[in-house]
Amino acid sequence: LFSAIEMAPRDPILGITEAFNADKNPNKVNLGVGVYYDDNGKVPLLACVQKAEAQLMEKASPRTYLPIDGIAAYDKAVQELVFGADSAVVQEKRAITVQALGGTGALKLGADFLKRFSPNAQVWISDPSWENHRALFEFAGFTVNNYPYYDATTRGVNFTGMLNALNEMPAGAIVVLHACCHNPTGADLTEDQWTQVIQVVTQRGLVPFLDMAYQGFGDGIEADGKVVRRFAEAGGPLFVSNSFSKSFSLYGERVGALSIVAVSSEEAARVLSQLKRVIRTNYSNPPIHGGQVVATALSAPELRKQWEEELAGMRVRIREMRQALVQNLKEKAPNHNFDFVIQQRGMFSYSGLTKAQVERLRNEYSIYAVDTGRICVAALNSRNIDAVVDAIAKVL
Ligand code: LMR
Repeated sequence: LFSAIEMAPRDPILGITEAFNADKNPNKVNLGVGVYYDDNGKVPLLACVQKAEAQLMEKASPRTYLPIDGIAAYDKAVQELVFGADSAVVQEKRAITVQALGGTGALKLGADFLKRFSPNAQVWISDPSWENHRALFEFAGFTVNNYPYYDATTRGVNFTGMLNALNEMPAGAIVVLHACCHNPTGADLTEDQWTQVIQVVTQRGLVPFLDMAYQGFGDGIEADGKVVRRFAEAGGPLFVSNSFSKSFSLYGERVGALSIVAVSSEEAARVLSQLKRVIRTNYSNPPIHGGQVVATALSAPELRKQWEEELAGMRVRIREMRQALVQNLKEKAPNHNFDFVIQQRGMFSYSGLTKAQVERLRNEYSIYAVDTGRICVAALNSRNIDAVVDAIAKVL
């Protein structure tokens, strides 16, 4: 059975963490994976999480099975966060939300659901996109195509190319879009560009699948979630995966959700019933802890406020690191212009470093980045930035 099995390639993102963990250099820096570290280089345990956990410990609830679609209070709180409590889709019960195993788990549920009910559709992802998008939809059985997105010369979005591609897709095509903080490029659409995208997607009957893994890391929770609300207002169908891995610093708890917007509450109920079958046959029902923490923190006003402040703190620190990176590179590598790093949104910078330069950073300086040149700005801090800038200046 196993003799013909070939070695699978290393995961382009998590494989870097494996190599990083094996590196003995005490000064190693992991700019690969999208994880927020504080200025001490530690993954924070948010105060709002600690308080929610203390409340939960107090209750000492038994660990029964959760409903297939997760904790009802969690699903409700997430749905209101994603669409707004007063939104038509929530009020009219046209949106359904299920707890999922992180953003990846939500994408996988959506992909499996779509493969079952739209088996002949093809999927389009941005060029480039999060490394796992292609693999995830291909593993679900889809043919995955790219639509133009990043323009390396302007370091921005090739919007004409993107719009032309959308205009040529067949009705029913599944289009994966990054709601905010585009991963890996950090280049987001403007509000006006989103208006045009929503128009084309709606007119042509495409199926938008919005991936929102970084809400709050761009311009704020409200601002970053706006695109999702605008798509919801345009009607359905709509798929939204969201994650609390980064925004609650709950990476290992695997807390996310999949929301689907249908055209009527009756249709939404049928969709939910089928989605529950997808969950049941995959992992039966989700784990309790992370979902309870997020549900508690989102629904208690004081914890909610604290979460928003803590998230704002992370967002501001990343911005400061962008500034510091650009400033320091101006001194150490004066012939190169990195000003674009300040315009990019979210955790990442598509730095423009080549694969060969990334390899040198890794082999000579124990600085780990994704082969595409994506670096996680959220992993920079006041103690490692000089070493990182020195190394980048040397490999340029
Ligand atoms: C990333 O892009 O680094 C994160 O989303 C982590 C992951 O699962 O790849």
